[in-house]
This record gives sequence, structure tokens and C-alpha cells, in this order.
Amino acid sequence: MSSVMIDVRSLGVSFGSTRVLHDLSLRLEAGRTVGVVGESGSGKSTLAKVLVGVVEPNTGEVVVADTDVRRLGRRSRREIQAYRRRVQMIPQDPFSSLSPRRTIGQTLAEALDPVRANVRRVEDRIVEWLERVGLPADAMGRYPHEFSGGQRQRVAIARSLIVEPSVVIADEITSALDVSVQAQILDLIAEIKQGLGLTMVFISHNLAVVQRVSDMVAVMYHGEIVEVGAVEQIYADPRHWYTKRLLDADPGAPGFDLAW
Ligand SMILES: Nc1ncnc2c1ncn2[C@@H]1O[C@H](COP(=O)(O)OP(=O)(O)OP(=O)(O)O)[C@@H](O)[C@H]1O
Ligand SMILES: [Mg+2]
Repeated sequence: MSSVMIDVRSLGVSFGSTRVLHDLSLRLEAGRTVGVVGESGSGKSTLAKVLVGVVEPNTGEVVVADTDVRRLGRRSRREIQAYRRRVQMIPQDPFSSLSPRRTIGQTLAEALDPVRANVRRVEDRIVEWLERVGLPADAMGRYPHEFSGGQRQRVAIARSLIVEPSVVIADEITSALDVSVQAQILDLIAEIKQGLGLTMVFISHNLAVVQRVSDMVAVMYHGEIVEVGAVEQIYADPRHWYTKRLLDADPGAPGFDLAW
């Protein structure tokens, strides 16, 4: 039996008089990854923010991990914090999201336990997660500036996943990285999500990037999902003209194998 982890129905979001998302529907079962692609301004990050509960929908229904996000703001602080833990965002730019004054160990300890943030108490889990994301254990005592962009993104991935979320929203997490490093991070994501059975929304403007980690693809255009389908179908038999245009424009970035 499969359970639905993300259920978005007729979602509409406006900022002032500008409608950014209209009548958007998306269902994702537990353990699956949907890749969301679309050009700049199509509304991908807005959708991500609705899912993590930082932008309120104007219309429609959004249920993530059995929580109605429309009512999230009216819940207790504890419930909101619990939601934020279960539904994690991996940030695009790990440099600005990692505190320069905290060691990697402190950052991970704080993710696990924001109140005490005691590295010693959670050292085993920190070491385990550093290893899982391909960083040496001594990274624990070092600071973000001592790492490369790709390594910092590994730290950001560990920070989001160490709390064992039910749902992960990854918004352009490789777009700031060199192509060869992008491929390594995508391999890492593919490996980790397989092991943990994570449910993931993986956002990128690059179809080849999305293909590498997704089961399904949703194509966004001007605030709507114009096509959604299994990865193979989208690539072999795109139905919407905009999907066809994306495929023509982006036959695969260097280093990517479309037959993956
Ligand atoms: N807080 C806001 N106030 C007003 N307009 C906003 C706000 N956030 C986003 N928008 C507008 O909503 C539209 C969608 O933006 P969004 O960031 O969701 O697009 P995106 O698909 O993530 O683009 P990109 O690929 O560049 O990241 C854009 O026209 C943007 O200018
Ligand atoms: Mg965006």
C-alpha cells in the first residue's frame, strides 16, 4: 500500500495583485521524488515555500506529512517546530545558510537539539552523518570557510537530513556548483534518499539535473503545472509544447548521461 505524503489541490498564491501560482495540483507518494522544472519566475520557489509552511496559500488545499499547512500558522509553536523538523528545506546557497562562527559539529548539534546544542551528546550521530555525506569526521571541529562549495553543500544536506525528516524540499541545491561537483552531489542525493526512503521535491531549472534523482517530473510554466508524469514518459513522449521546448533547449548538460 502506498500513502500520499504531499497532496496539493488547486493551490493559488498571489503576492498583492500578482498571481504567482494558479490552480496547481500535485500528489506525491511516500518514498518518491518529484522533480520540478520550469524557467525563472515560473513559481518553483513559491511552491517550495508553501510546502515548508513559510508562504500561506490564498486558495486550495495543501497537506504535507498529514499536516494541513493552511492552518499551520494558527498552531502552537511546538507544533510548528515539529512540522519544520519533519519537512526540511535544503538551501540553494550553503555559504549564506551556514553560520560562519559555528563549527560544522555545532551546526549539526543545533539542528538536532536547538536548545542545548551539545556536540558531545550527539557526537556519534554527527560522525555518522558526516560519513554518510562523504566528509571526514574531523570536519566536525572546522568552520564553513575551510570547505569548498561542494563540501559545504554536503554539510547543508547533513544538517537537513540528520533530524530524519519525512519530506525534503531541495530548491536549486546544485545550481551554484561546478558541473562535476553537481554530479557528485546528485549521486549523493540519489544514494541517501534510496537508503532512507525519503520523499523529496527536487527543484531545478535544469531537466538533466532533475532526471538524475527523480521518479516523476512536474513541469511548471507561469505558475501552473502544465505536465506531470513518470521521468521516462516526460523524456520519451513529452505532451506539452513547453516540455518539448525545454527538452530541445536542454539535451543534457555536459557530464550527464540522458540514458541514466
Ligand atoms: N515575496 C514576493 N513578493 C512579490 N512577488 C514575489 C515574491 N516572491 C516571488 N515573487 C514573484 O513570483 C514569481 C515566481 O517567483 P519564484 O521565486 O517562485 O520563481 P522560481 O520559479 O523559483 O524562479 P527561479 O528559477 O528564478 O528561482 C516571480 O515573478 C517573482 O517575482
Ligand atoms: Mg527559485
